[in-house]
Amino acid sequence: MRNHLTHPIFSLISEVADEMQRPCFVIGGFVRDIILHRPSKDIDVVTLGSGIELAEALCRRLGSHAHLAVFRNFGTAQVKYHDGKEWIEVEFVGARRESYSHNSRKPIVEDGTLQDDQNRRDFTINALALCLNGERFGELVDPFDGIGDIERELIRTPLDPDITFSDDPLRMMRAIRFATQLNFRIYPDTFDAIKRNSERIKIISRERIADELGKIIRADIPSRGFILLEESGLLPYICPELAALKGVETKDGHGHKDNFYHTLTVLDNVALRSRNEWLRWAALFHDIAKPRTKRYDVRLGWTFHNHNFIGAKMIPGIFRFMKLPLDERMKYVQKLVELHMRPIVLAEEVVTDSAVRRLLFDAGDDIDDLMCLCEADITSRNAEKVRRYLENFALVRRKLTEIEEKDRIRNFQPPVDGSEIMEYFALPPSREVGELKSAIKNAILDGIIPNERDAAWQYMLKAAEQMGIKKP
Ligand code: CTP
Repeated sequence: MRNHLTHPIFSLISEVADEMQRPCFVIGGFVRDIILHRPSKDIDVVTLGSGIELAEALCRRLGSHAHLAVFRNFGTAQVKYHDGKEWIEVEFVGARRESYSHNSRKPIVEDGTLQDDQNRRDFTINALALCLNGERFGELVDPFDGIGDIERELIRTPLDPDITFSDDPLRMMRAIRFATQLNFRIYPDTFDAIKRNSERIKIISRERIADELGKIIRADIPSRGFILLEESGLLPYICPELAALKGVETKDGHGHKDNFYHTLTVLDNVALRSRNEWLRWAALFHDIAKPRTKRYDVRLGWTFHNHNFIGAKMIPGIFRFMKLPLDERMKYVQKLVELHMRPIVLAEEVVTDSAVRRLLFDAGDDIDDLMCLCEADITSRNAEKVRRYLENFALVRRKLTEIEEKDRIRNFQPPVDGSEIMEYFALPPSREVGELKSAIKNAILDGIIPNERDAAWQYMLKAAEQMGIKKP
């Protein structure tokens, strides 16, 4: 494996470690990613004895090109170094034996051997180490057949999975996240342990959980991760609203579709078309209010009235609980959840210009993402139905372009503004001014007048006359 350690930083670490007579190894994700031909990021180095001392010695050797950060509490040190092209980050740690008490994340740590250090890592594929010392430079140390697991595409813990997961319950999510990103299977014993220990995810901070979920949702086929989260029993602790989507109820022989699996199909459909993470979250939550709004009506069958509006209202609470960002990204998800029925309703009816204008007005710059979500939402198995919907969507898209070119509604700015109206009629800010403004807006959206100043001014004068507003 020497040919993978061609960067000069490795021979430098090797020299420094040999001089100090310190066994030292590159370990973890960096080695795994070399073998998987994935871009490798940060380099983790484990040594016997103090990782901090080795980092300090390396830093002295690198001189002014390097920065050292020491984290005494964790016994680690990070060296950042600019090699003329880019920043390289190397994290140093002493090999440790570690165990955790049952209800705390605070570990009891002692010095250990390389094998001890590998034992306490999460998965066999993450426990691979490459020696950096003298003759052994580039030698692979793989006590748990991590290479075999990469070949077999398996996520498996090095030790009894109950121990590995109880050391850090976040690893249950990491197993699912790696299985999703790499398209690997989780070894049955390992997966059974996740099922047994799922409740322990409660002691993990929501920020760390959100980090893993982000990696799942950004994967090529994110549904894999959510299916595993559901099957393992973790999902109700992570997002109970999502877990509640699962299941089918039947009344008078009529069942509705399983909204959990439908949601995941929509999510994958969106993921095929877009890498926009927030559009993917919108897909995940687009039907989130269906369990709450579900009713059975003898005439209509199953209905989910207003699930889009109620869903949009649920988003801030869900984002707060899951520690997702509460900024414009949340607002974007909310908006898409609220509007996700509009193009479908449009496509079911005659596509009028005025409905298209209103849709453009409400969606603004997010119209393309909304259309993408709606097309992804057509998951019917009835080919004829799908064809009809997609044809109508194509028509809606054509009209959207046509009307946007003509009327520029996307970032609508009223052609007559409130201050002009107040000045002309000598009115204070009042209900009347608001009514005149919305009369103009509605007339434009309904296609009664074009989105132009003169027409809008004339229309406003007429509306004012009808309302009995006179120029002083
Ligand atoms: N590790 C672990 N248990 C954890 C987190 C990390 O055993 N809960 C170990 C693994 O050996 C892992 C290494 O620490 O390979 C580095 O962890 P990290 O940087 O979080 O992840 P990577 O495995 O490098 O993967 P990614 O960069 O995709 O998160």
